[in-house]
Amino acid sequence: MIFYFTATGNSQYAAEKIAAATNDRLVSIGASLREGQYDFDLGGDERLGFVIPTFAWTVPGAVARFLEKLNLAGFTDQYVYGVFTCGESTGGEAGALGALLKEKGIRFSGGFDLVMPDNFIVWSDVPSPQRLEAMLDNADRQLEQIISAVKAKKPGAVGAPPKDLFMPMQEVSTSKNTSKLHADEKCTACGLCIEICPMRCIQAGAGGKPVWEGACTLCLACLHRCPERAVQHGNDTQKKGRYVNPRVTLA
Ligand SMILES: Cc1cc2nc3c(=O)[nH]c(=O)nc-3n(C[C@H](O)[C@H](O)[C@H](O)COP(=O)(O)O)c2cc1C
Repeated sequence: MIFYFTATGNSQYAAEKIAAATNDRLVSIGASLREGQYDFDLGGDERLGFVIPTFAWTVPGAVARFLEKLNLAGFTDQYVYGVFTCGESTGGEAGALGALLKEKGIRFSGGFDLVMPDNFIVWSDVPSPQRLEAMLDNADRQLEQIISAVKAKKPGAVGAPPKDLFMPMQEVSTSKNTSKLHADEKCTACGLCIEICPMRCIQAGAGGKPVWEGACTLCLACLHRCPERAVQHGNDTQKKGRYVNPRVTLA
């Protein structure tokens, strides 16, 4: 069974490739959070994988919330691995995932880093089309090695847990003007951002336009996947490109 969390498709792409090679079942953490579905059954000799992005050198808050609620029947010390898709550098996420799983009585066998295009465009920008293709080809080569290790049930790296076991979620409230995420005048109130937010923290406000209210994990799905490029993060993203992994079809 492979649990994956994705905003812009990198982790879904990796999870689907691993599932195709191992015949393991795929479960979207985003869909589970949206639907409140936390009960799963692991088969006797099934591998357990977590394919998730690195957020602030640790685990996304959304993944920590999912793990907190997860009821996993059938765990009898099977092989448990993580794959961390990241833009450039990982940090303590393997240690963090190991510690979060330990709290559930699940022994972690270690994780593998997978460098993919960086979707945190608050700080960076999207790569040129040529560079993007080279990055994705390189990721494919890394992924082949990860798949071989997972098939052979090899242990990955663990490391010490960081001080913060996950990136804290932001309590956002448009009424108090605390969210840097907002829709600009290009917004057509199509509702896609409301539909895809894994935290259900976007509601329809005046004229059906989105307002951010609640716990935001800052995955940036709303920002990258808006068809009008109307979702912005403060003044950081108006002149930036948007990213969705072109080799995967997002649900
Ligand atoms: C809030 C946030 C924090 C991030 N922090 C890191 C980081 O610490 N190191 C890094 O290399 N990439 C970081 N990234 C980039 C993502 O880990 C990377 O692009 C990932 O592959 C995105 O996965 P997805 O396409 O499945 O959503 C961050 C992205 C976001 C949205």
